[in-house]
Amino acid sequence: MSKLLEFPIIVINFKTYIDSLGERGMKIAKDAERVSNETGVSICVAPQFTDIKSIASAVNIPVFAQHVDPHPPGSYTGSVSVEAIKDAGAIGSLLNHSEKKLQLTSIFTAVKMLKSAGLFSLVCADDVEPAMAVATLNPTMIAVEPPELIGTGIPVSKARPEIISESVQRIRSINREVKILCGAGITKGDDVRRAIELGSDGVLLASGVVKTKDPGAIIREMAEALLNSR
Ligand code: G3P
Repeated sequence: MSKLLEFPIIVINFKTYIDSLGERGMKIAKDAERVSNETGVSICVAPQFTDIKSIASAVNIPVFAQHVDPHPPGSYTGSVSVEAIKDAGAIGSLLNHSEKKLQLTSIFTAVKMLKSAGLFSLVCADDVEPAMAVATLNPTMIAVEPPELIGTGIPVSKARPEIISESVQRIRSINREVKILCGAGITKGDDVRRAIELGSDGVLLASGVVKTKDPGAIIREMAEALLNSR
């Protein structure tokens, strides 16, 4: 596999769980790389900032940051710049996750800055309407994630299938290029299969992989489900 994005895709957000920090995060990233190599499914990991460099140097799959600030290099203490994540080896960044919200103008600026740096963007949206607004900013990917399902193990593809099918249909009406992912509560292969069958170009997930005893096994189950749903 390569560090290039291919679709459909599985994106694993490590968040700030202890279970995905440091060496534990490295193990999950290597599990993801092994499954990606064995199945041919594109799998991207989004570690904590402090682990991007070590993980991006160790695995040959796409590595994303979980956020970037919409500022140029300079006197922005505590911010994370596009240049910094690129230097660390990330090929893109999540933006506007429901746990790290941005104003629409900041999303616009950050998407533009990522693009100028040759990096990709995965912009999160809570529902269909905000996703349509984000689609006008031309990110690489949009992930529709109802916040109330995040971390619950209740998969969006079963609890709110209409948000996926409606997002795909209405986003496509304004942007035919952007890839449309969904997320929240996805913990099993069947949740992934259902999401793809509803028209998603992939899934964004966290606890279903990070909080399990055997992340490699669940990543493989999800990858195989994705293969069987194409
Ligand atoms: O970024 C994906 C995340 O918000 C979904 O969380 O734990 O429900 O997979 P989780």
